[in-house]
Amino acid sequence: MSQQESDQKTTHFGYQTVASEDKQAMVADVFHSVAAKYDVMNDLMSFGVHRLWKRFTIEMSGVRPGNRVLDLAGGTGDLTKKFSRIVGPQGKVVLADINSSMLNVGRDRLTDEGYVGNIEYVQANAECLPFEDNSFDALTIAFGLRNVTDKDAALRSMTRVLKPGGRLLVLEFSKPTNPVMSKAYDLYSFSALPFMGKVVANDAESYKYLAESIRMHPDQETLKGMMEDAGLVRCSYHNLTSGVVALHRGIKP
Ligand SMILES: C[S@@+](CC[C@H](N)C(=O)[O-])C[C@H]1O[C@@H](n2cnc3c(N)ncnc32)[C@H](O)[C@@H]1O
Repeated sequence: MSQQESDQKTTHFGYQTVASEDKQAMVADVFHSVAAKYDVMNDLMSFGVHRLWKRFTIEMSGVRPGNRVLDLAGGTGDLTKKFSRIVGPQGKVVLADINSSMLNVGRDRLTDEGYVGNIEYVQANAECLPFEDNSFDALTIAFGLRNVTDKDAALRSMTRVLKPGGRLLVLEFSKPTNPVMSKAYDLYSFSALPFMGKVVANDAESYKYLAESIRMHPDQETLKGMMEDAGLVRCSYHNLTSGVVALHRGIKP
């Protein structure tokens, strides 16, 4: 039974319980609103540490020249940019995102920086990916899964498009392992984040959603179980920054 079915067609949007069919549009509003300021806010909010989390994701992906990679919920393209260099002219990176504003910011930014030739941009919903079975060597979803309405359907769809032996990497906020860190993090996310969102992006609400959606996201072990249920094997995770973020990895058998 999927998450929604067991929740009788309701789901979470941050701390609110909403009809499952409404969540996608509400998430879309958040990302249309933050797209233009997304990169600067990312650096500010994480003190630049998101770059290290992403670098670790690239290292764990095992991506090599000539590979086909899907950067799902790829937004403004941080991972796509790095993968584009690694896979080279014989490879391909698909930056897929449900949100046209995020996708446009990503495409403009990467094109301006000279990343052309091996990148394709596709507007797609993680829950029903418009790609053939067994078509990618690696798939990353960074800070995207918690925004997806039906996470189980999305994980199944991701597994389907991976080649046998292909790797799924889920980089996402998670549950801090250290109680002191957890308290400090709560204070930071529920006061500093909306404040920064208000001052820099004139949008406190979206950053309040960010903090709430992080707390509602499945913890490390739960997500690992969901990946196994989707058919992935050798699933494991690494806690980063004391579990503020976790990188999960699973292999398609
Ligand atoms: C926080 S941003 C992450 C962007 C980028 N991966 C990064 O790490 O900087 C989350 C992205 O997930 C996308 N997203 C949300 N729901 C999605 C869905 N169902 N399918 C595909 N993308 C989705 C949003 O549009 C947004 O661009």
